[in-house]
Amino acid sequence: MAKREKITVRDIARKKGVEPIAMITAYDTPTARIVDEAGVDIILVGDSLGMVVLGLESTLSVEMSDMIRHTEAVARAKPSALVVGDMPFMSYEADVKEALRNAGRFLSAGADAVKIEGGSEYSDVIKALKRAGIPVMAHVGLTPQKHKLLGGYRLMGKTASEAAEIIKDAEEVAEAGAFSIVIEFTAWQVAREITERVHIPTICIGSGPYCDGQVLVIHDILGLSPSIPPFVKKYVDLSKIIREAVSRYVTDVKRGQLLQENMYWSMKKGEYEKLRTILGEK
Ligand code: KIV
Repeated sequence: MAKREKITVRDIARKKGVEPIAMITAYDTPTARIVDEAGVDIILVGDSLGMVVLGLESTLSVEMSDMIRHTEAVARAKPSALVVGDMPFMSYEADVKEALRNAGRFLSAGADAVKIEGGSEYSDVIKALKRAGIPVMAHVGLTPQKHKLLGGYRLMGKTASEAAEIIKDAEEVAEAGAFSIVIEFTAWQVAREITERVHIPTICIGSGPYCDGQVLVIHDILGLSPSIPPFVKKYVDLSKIIREAVSRYVTDVKRGQLLQENMYWSMKKGEYEKLRTILGEK
């Protein structure tokens, strides 16, 4: 399979209105390699890592060290896809300098860009990162790091006033210099309105079809998550496939049927007899 050219943020920008953008999460080297070979445009090392890989309750306890470790793992696959590192809770909110330092760590770890959750309240952060040469993907609508403030993981923009706020947020982050925007779990009209109003690509999750691209969490589409959001299309039930394969392995081990004769190796000729002597046995 021929390796694609490296995809840059400029390539992503050029896709708006031309070709839908396919983004998927990945958190480790082999998965990054596979999704890259499958042709995704963007790999997001999402802080969904906390739930789908680390077994945490929410993304609130994901730390910079977790994200950096996994961004490095994804970057080691040397994907052609653009690699976006998701800035975890409290790594960019407190002040711009801290946001800069933390975002810089993502680029040193091999990311091509970072994502931050939130709207106009982070315009200054987006501007500062852009000034420092760090491309930023913004994230509006449902922002899971703020689920406690939002009142849970709920559909956003169902009322005109909430919809207008989200649209304003999206316009301001685009104005501040974000290169793209994730729109999570909003009414489809909100996502369509944003997509028509901003000059940068919108990448949606659970916000309908009128966007410049779509993103999903890989564990959800592969059937590795115990429960999935209603907007997820599951392509395969890997849990079932893995369970069946491992159960056959367990049966083989229990029955002593795991190893064929060509799957284990002998000492050099005569060495076993010498060993028996050394061990003082007959
Ligand atoms: O962390 C993540 O995986 C995300 C996507 C759901 C957009 O932010």
